[in-house]
Amino acid sequence: MKEQGLFRRSWGLAWQRLLERTVLRRPLAHMYHLISGHIYFQTLSAAVQLDLFTLLGRRGPLTRAQIGEALQLAEQPARILLLGLVTCELLRRRGAAYAATPLADELFNRDRPRNVADVVLWQHFINYRALGHFHEALLANRNTGLAEFPGDEPTLYQRLAHNPALEKIFQDAMEAISRLSNHLLAEAVDFNQFHHIVDVGGGNATNIIRLAQQHPQLKADVFDFPSVCAIAREKIRAAGLGDRLGAAEGNCFADEFPAGVDGILFCHFLTIWSPEQNRALLQKACRALAPGGAVIIFNQMQHDAEDGPLSAAMGSPYFLTLATGVGMLYTWNEYEAWLRAAGCTRVLRKALVRDHGVIIGIK
Ligand SMILES: C[S@@+](CC[C@H](N)C(=O)[O-])C[C@H]1O[C@@H](n2cnc3c(N)ncnc32)[C@H](O)[C@@H]1O
Repeated sequence: MKEQGLFRRSWGLAWQRLLERTVLRRPLAHMYHLISGHIYFQTLSAAVQLDLFTLLGRRGPLTRAQIGEALQLAEQPARILLLGLVTCELLRRRGAAYAATPLADELFNRDRPRNVADVVLWQHFINYRALGHFHEALLANRNTGLAEFPGDEPTLYQRLAHNPALEKIFQDAMEAISRLSNHLLAEAVDFNQFHHIVDVGGGNATNIIRLAQQHPQLKADVFDFPSVCAIAREKIRAAGLGDRLGAAEGNCFADEFPAGVDGILFCHFLTIWSPEQNRALLQKACRALAPGGAVIIFNQMQHDAEDGPLSAAMGSPYFLTLATGVGMLYTWNEYEAWLRAAGCTRVLRKALVRDHGVIIGIK
């Protein structure tokens, strides 16, 4: 066989190559994301579980051999992981050394104050397998993904109470999400006008701790399940705020909200429930308030045009498939209509960043 002329000159191939490197580059990458999303996620998840981003943050750019040695990875697995992380733009390769990209360092290096490494662990250990039931959940119209967790209760939150290790992963992730967003709430709403608020489904108290640190007059209670209140009390004690903050045990459907408060906060909470349940919760909240009191809703909002954003589209399947089987990220208009129907005379909205918004209903 002659070496010369073994490759044919093909204008068709050259044209296709040009297209794939230019106008088709982004659409093709997008399709890869869709078809192989599970591999993208597992690439990130493995790096977070190995704590690679913290390692790189502490020791600076490292070669593949140094990373393999520090993480106890054999040569070929290290090569596969690093190839994935570089092409996902989580790491950058300069010569033989690897470093995290600035955004990956900010988000996944545990030494960074607003890192979301715990959110990745939540996605991995709690949501990942359960979301494999999405198709089934759509057809059944219920949270069939809950079968991944032992128990017979109807919501993920109740089943997590049987498993302290998973409940901790869940609450740590919620804390990371709250840390990323609760300063938006603190900046957007004038909490100087409130004396005592209750944070329904307030989890481990991250939100009320942040608000109380900024507003020395403010008293606040988390209202959540007993196992979660125990975690909240510990956090409150560690923050030295036991004189103004507390945790009230209860089930928002079975129990009344604590009385005598002038603000009732729902942070990342109404997304969990159905429209009917949300109407009932907001009515209960309005009943508990004196005239002039306020209901405050804070979470990511769906556009009123129902065409996004991505956070609403990607967050909603979790509520159908796993959390409760009935929730989703609702539109601004829906929350506002529920507040008016519950008896609020004035309803105000404010869009924040990262798809978050706050709606205040005044009784
Ligand atoms: C998505 S997390 C939100 C945590 C917190 N509000 C935040 O913004 O990070 C939902 C919280 O609601 C609590 N929860 C779920 N069902 C509840 C119920 N029926 N009554 C009271 N709390 C509940 C869960 O235990 C969990 O802490």
